[in-house]
Amino acid sequence: MKRIVILISGRGSNLRSIVEACRAEAWPARIAAVISNRPDAAGLDFAAREGIATEVVDHRGFAERAAFDAALAQAVDRHAPDVVALAGFMRILGAAFVARYAGRIVNVHPSLLPAFPGLDTHRRVIEAGCKLAGATVHFVTSDLDHGPIIAQAVVPVLADDDAAALAARVLAREHVLYPLALRWLVEDALRLEHGIVTQTRGEPQLLL
Ligand code: GRF
Repeated sequence: MKRIVILISGRGSNLRSIVEACRAEAWPARIAAVISNRPDAAGLDFAAREGIATEVVDHRGFAERAAFDAALAQAVDRHAPDVVALAGFMRILGAAFVARYAGRIVNVHPSLLPAFPGLDTHRRVIEAGCKLAGATVHFVTSDLDHGPIIAQAVVPVLADDDAAALAARVLAREHVLYPLALRWLVEDALRLEHGIVTQTRGEPQLLL
């Protein structure tokens, strides 16, 4: 059984979709722990109700990012993860942290990367007049929101969308895309070569 540690900062709707898919689809994996940098993250309550180990490493207790990263790595390592999944984790992780989990740390971002990395994605998509938006699951590298792409899902941008409406449409696809990509990872069904990720069974890495 592979062990997945999930890092969150808030609501935890992606966390929920991963926990539910792992159980419903009987992945060869279990969620070993959920770790938050915010003690008030709603996702912690969900995890606790599910009987999953939870920890808080509050970034406000650390003057420097490197010290926070080191404490976070200690907490993560206590659960001996095969996979580290960022699910709405809102702190930038330093190069040393990312290197420690190279090839087994993944993230979901609510845009079609490499377009629109960073925050406030949906407003920027609408202001750019994009007709297409979506979500990306990628391996994490020290280049923020730019690691090798595992899978993407697309949605239309509608004429009367505001950022909240578009975010909701994208989030619904994240809830399908992220569990799918994680399942491939725990099933060893991904190959990463020269920055390109291939699904080794030929399953579509684009959800339309
Ligand atoms: C998601 O839109 C995710 O793509 C982004 O932050 C949001 C987290 O939502 N990184 P939730 O906490 O999973 O509900």
